[in-house]
Amino acid sequence: MKTIIPARAAFSCLFLTALLAGSVQAGIPDTFTNLKVFPRDIGKQNLLSAMRDFSTALDVRCTFCHVQKTPGDFDSIDWASDEIKHKDASRGMMTMVRNINSELLPASTGESGGRVRCITCHRGLENPQTLDHLLLETIEKDGVDVGIARYRELRDEYYGKGAYNFSPSTLNEVAETLAQSRGDMTGAVKVLDLGIEMNPDDSITYLMKGKILMFQGDKEGALASMNKALELDPGNEQIIRILDGINK
Ligand code: HEC
Ligand code: HEC
Repeated sequence: MKTIIPARAAFSCLFLTALLAGSVQAGIPDTFTNLKVFPRDIGKQNLLSAMRDFSTALDVRCTFCHVQKTPGDFDSIDWASDEIKHKDASRGMMTMVRNINSELLPASTGESGGRVRCITCHRGLENPQTLDHLLLETIEKDGVDVGIARYRELRDEYYGKGAYNFSPSTLNEVAETLAQSRGDMTGAVKVLDLGIEMNPDDSITYLMKGKILMFQGDKEGALASMNKALELDPGNEQIIRILDGINK
């Protein structure tokens, strides 16, 4: 038995590789006619492995960049065509990544062998952006309620995928910017309430909410929020000082 299992595993592994390679490579030519960044004589395996990296980094299919003449028909993809603008934009990105790794990184770190890849920035997104910026932009344009709805959608879709930072600090930072730079206390409290719903154990969220409620003259609300913060983070000097201030 002991010898049969590895043999069988090795066989099925080979079989699987052949199957995968076959399904992806059918219909793809062996020579390429429109390469402007990659070397013209790049091997098929190397090119396809780069293409899979692109697709994974942006979480898209090949047809995000390559035009498909008949919808759903893989064989009708015109690989050499530059009709879709994302393809040429990707050439700019390829050159940028090459410059970062070969020149900019070594110039600033003193070490060669840069490791920046498409996924370093894209993290499964077509247009990479940090979550706090995305939310602030949405709130600026469409108001805080739309921003909160957007957060919920993004969390449903992306939680655990590493595309966005869903840790408590993101909503706390958005609330702080709303309160401090834009003077929007009501919006800030709404964002903090969302934070409390999502991360009920984060003392900082309660602390920030307490400070804003105090600023708004809601002493009772501020006390409740600060007490909750202290319950979550007993002995926190800052919270104790603020509570002393409110209770005076
Ligand atoms: C994000 C954009 C993007 C995605 C997604 C993408 N490609 Fe590409 N592809 C390119 C770019 C850019 C080139 C041209 C590179 C160059 O000019 O050196 C290219 C070139 C090619 C070529 C060579 C065509 C020729 O004859 O010049 C093939 C074949 C190819 N891609 C296959 C694929 C396959 C298969 C997938 C999906 C697994 C895929 N690509 C996904 C951007 C993309
Ligand atoms: C240093 C960070 C970074 C790296 C590395 C990076 N990108 Fe981008 N990319 C961006 C940002 C930021 C945007 C969004 C630009 C915007 O919103 O205007 C973007 C946008 C794009 C777009 C959309 C442009 C369009 O057509 O609308 C494509 C396609 C793309 N990148 C492909 C790639 C590919 C392929 C790689 C790897 C070869 C790559 N990117 C590497 C930061 C990066």
